[in-house]
This record gives sequence, structure tokens and C-alpha cells, in this order.
Amino acid sequence: MRKFIVAGNWKMNTTVPEGVQLAKDVVAKAAECLPANVELVVAPPFTHLFPVAEVLKGSKVHLSAQNCADHVKGAYTGEVAVDMLTSVGCEYTILGHSERRQYYGETDEKLVEKTKLALEAGLKVILCVGENLDEREAGKHFDVVTAQTKNVLYNFSAEDMAKVVIAYEPVWAIGTGKTATAEQAQEIHACIRSVVAEKFGAKVADDMTILYGGSCKPSNAKELFAQKDIDGGLIGGAALKAEDFLGIATSF
Ligand code: 13P
Repeated sequence: MRKFIVAGNWKMNTTVPEGVQLAKDVVAKAAECLPANVELVVAPPFTHLFPVAEVLKGSKVHLSAQNCADHVKGAYTGEVAVDMLTSVGCEYTILGHSERRQYYGETDEKLVEKTKLALEAGLKVILCVGENLDEREAGKHFDVVTAQTKNVLYNFSAEDMAKVVIAYEPVWAIGTGKTATAEQAQEIHACIRSVVAEKFGAKVADDMTILYGGSCKPSNAKELFAQKDIDGGLIGGAALKAEDFLGIATSF
């Protein structure tokens, strides 16, 4: 069964007290209005994970990190290992966000390592893929997204895929207010699902949750989520307000 997920990527926003308050607001709103068939996830910065996990205890909201290290432990100053994430109650980690690919040199090879460690540690992975504006204008968006998906996921097994969520985030739509149209998003989602099917079979592809991300808000979520291959969203800016975040989560 395919799962509907709405995940909030807080990126590098909020102080710890602000983040704890936001988590409390999300928990309260989720208790009021979250549909039973939608899973809600928040991904605060590393510093917030421990106190936010305390807030989420006993609630309907799941915890994710935004990244993890590509080593198990040791002399890697500034990095955070998968065991550290599970030890504070993370259930997911986002990997391969375009901001990490663009600003921190995250390569597909590194993402294979990180995905491997995350899955071995029992974390579920939200793997981000998406083309930039030049690639879209050159008509290469299908190729880029296909390559990003294959380069990472084809190193894993069909069983592993039950622990993987894919997020399609066109870089030109992130934080720009410029959302992909429902048709543009749907055709890429269908393409990603076919790439998954090609290697792992139709059943695995059909069960795979594929999220859309990029200027998703309550006003456009409904149309996006109505597409047959769009199973929810990875939300940036609109996840920083509990009301907007839940407004999106109630858009199915
Ligand atoms: P925005 O919703 O702010 O465009 O960000 C999307 C995103 O990058 C989520 O990971």
C-alpha cells in the first residue's frame, strides 16, 4: 500500500526554543485535523532533534534529520552519524537535497554511502532528486532525474525500497514561489515510478511514495496531490507555520 506523506524540511531556520514551539504547534494541529491516511514528518536542524523528539512523543508526528554522515563514526569533525540520529528518535533522514548537492558537493556516490548507512541503521530515507533551471530549459529534466534516481537506488534491493521515499524537487521551484504545474510534476513523478519499476518491478514501484517539493503551499497542494503519482509533499517555507503545514496535510 502506498503511503501519503507530508514532510516539513525546516532547513536552517528557527532557534531551539522557536523550533520546540513550532513542534508543539504542529502536534496540536495534527491532533485536531490530520487525516488518518496521511503521515506527518518534521525535519528540524540537528541541534533541535533531541528536544523536538520529546515534544513528538505520543503524537502522530514523525521525526526526520535533514542529512547524515557518510561514515559510521570517528574523526569527522562537524558530522552527525546515523546511530546518533536513531538514538534521539529519528525515524527518517532526508538525503541528497539540492541545497546539499549544490552548496556542499554532495555527489550520487556519497549518497549511495549515506543511504546504505541510513538503511542499515534502520532509518528510512527521503531521497531528493530534481533538475535545475538550465537543465529544464535544455529539455534534460527527465534524463537528470532518471540518472539521479538510478545512480543511488539501483545499488539497493527491492526490500530496501520499502524504506525509501523519493522527493522530486525541481531546483527552480524551491523557495522561488514558482511551483511546477501539476502536469509538470505528474509527468516527472510517473517517470520516476517507471525507473523504479524497471529495476524493482511494478509492485515495488506502485507502493513507493513519491513526494513533490518546491513552493508547495495550502493554495496549490490540492491540485498537486490530486495527480495519480504525487503522494504528498516535502515542504520548506510553508512548514515553518503549523497552520500552513497542516493546511497542506489536509489537502488530499
Ligand atoms: P520551499 O517549499 O520553501 O520551496 O522548499 C522546498 C524544499 O526544498 C523542501 O525540501
